[in-house]
Amino acid sequence: MTLVPIEFAPADADALATHEGRVVGFADTELDSWAKRLDRLTRGALQRAIASEGWEKLKPGESMDLAFPAGMAAQAVQLIRLPRKAKPADLRKAGVSIAKGLGEAGALVAGASVRKAEYLAEGLALRAYTFARRAEAPKAPGTVTLASNDPEGAKAAASALLARAEAVHFTRDLVNEPANILTTTEFASRIEDMRAFGLEVEVLEEADLEKLGMRALLAVGQGSDSPTKVVVMHWKGGGDEKPLALVGKGVMFDTGGISIKPSAGMEDMVMDMGGSAVVAGVMRALAARKAPANVVGLVGLVENMPDGRAQRPGDVVTSMKGDTIEVINTDAEGRLVLADVMWYAQERFEPVAMIDLATLTGAVIVGLGHEKAGVFASDDELCADFLKAAAETDEGAWRLPLDPAYDELIKSRVADVKNVGGRTAGSITAAQFLQRFVKPDVPWIHLDIAGVALVAKDTAFAPKGATGWGVRALDTLVRNRFGG
Ligand code: BES
Ligand code: MN
Ligand code: ZN
Repeated sequence: MTLVPIEFAPADADALATHEGRVVGFADTELDSWAKRLDRLTRGALQRAIASEGWEKLKPGESMDLAFPAGMAAQAVQLIRLPRKAKPADLRKAGVSIAKGLGEAGALVAGASVRKAEYLAEGLALRAYTFARRAEAPKAPGTVTLASNDPEGAKAAASALLARAEAVHFTRDLVNEPANILTTTEFASRIEDMRAFGLEVEVLEEADLEKLGMRALLAVGQGSDSPTKVVVMHWKGGGDEKPLALVGKGVMFDTGGISIKPSAGMEDMVMDMGGSAVVAGVMRALAARKAPANVVGLVGLVENMPDGRAQRPGDVVTSMKGDTIEVINTDAEGRLVLADVMWYAQERFEPVAMIDLATLTGAVIVGLGHEKAGVFASDDELCADFLKAAAETDEGAWRLPLDPAYDELIKSRVADVKNVGGRTAGSITAAQFLQRFVKPDVPWIHLDIAGVALVAKDTAFAPKGATGWGVRALDTLVRNRFGG
């Protein structure tokens, strides 16, 4: 989880010639002043590079490598194309390009001015991430030195987004971790470690959940040897105001239960606690930056296993709210978890708004693929603010409809509701199910992150595997709308 080491150093022309790792420079249609120095050292190699056909094709933030340049000790000069008025997204991409090329020898970035440093460092820190449990530890990337005329200013500009990048890594680690290691108990204990940041953390055990009447949640875990838990994280940075509530689905592993999943690809279900991991990551980010906001994060931690004690298709469970649920399919377990945890969040905290995150449906992947999460909202204004925050942070999100017309599909013969609809509109019927457990006056967003939590290919900001999607968007939403 440790970030790539980043140092901020004063401008030093000599270092350009003697640095033995990679040296990074910037240019657009012309070389910037630092790149001009590199050009002199290499006797014109950079001028030739930007006159080449390949250079024309580069988009902002993309780069070209000039390997083993004569006149320099460097392994390579990495020349990044960056317009004079680079946008945050361009700068992030530049940081990502640096991360992709980075090796043990590190890099010296020539001309990482205060204006550039913030988002460049963010892109770099987000992309430079690895997760592997190997006997032989993978080689860590070397230090990246951001050299400029105002290193202190650059450091100050970058520090907030670097702290947030660390929270993203925390989320990714949780999602990447296998289910034999990240049990409900281990997850709860990793959250408890965040007390060090000033978060209040409370763990509700099965006996507590039983007393509260969370039968829908408990039913999901009753076939597992791992105890079901609800963990409450409270960040009180904003005085007496009622909090924003974040609620996460935390299914440590989803076999499907008695409605067992096919074995091919089942290993991906280690990520079924992705919603909880994002909630924990956001809480960490808020606490790390001492956000002047009140936010409470609640996660339902549970494992969905087939067993002699496991719930059966056809079982009817009574939720904490009191609504009865016919469990048609034990693989539609996420909504059972969220129903009780969301109800508890509202009863106890009377939140000003509630946002839940869940790797809830395969259907959202059919609809939106791995680029965008599904967004369902009961409140247009909150939704617009979230989509804006997602756009600002380059996190893909797309609104899908809620409509009572879909409730027809989840009517039960024997209970208030059943836990699956038919084959159609699977993500929407899941959202409609959840809405039953949202009080009418609570503005609410449901984020279905099944497609974006863990992906098989490298994404813009993460190597393949867990992405940490949502931590940055939600942190930004809190900044913009919930006190800062
Ligand atoms: N955890 C899965 C959803 C999922 C699928 C997440 C693929 C990530 C990748 C969820 O619990 C589930 O099994 N959903 C079922 C619902 C169905 C039984 C109505 C699904 O989507 O198939
Ligand atoms: Mn399932
Ligand atoms: Zn699931």
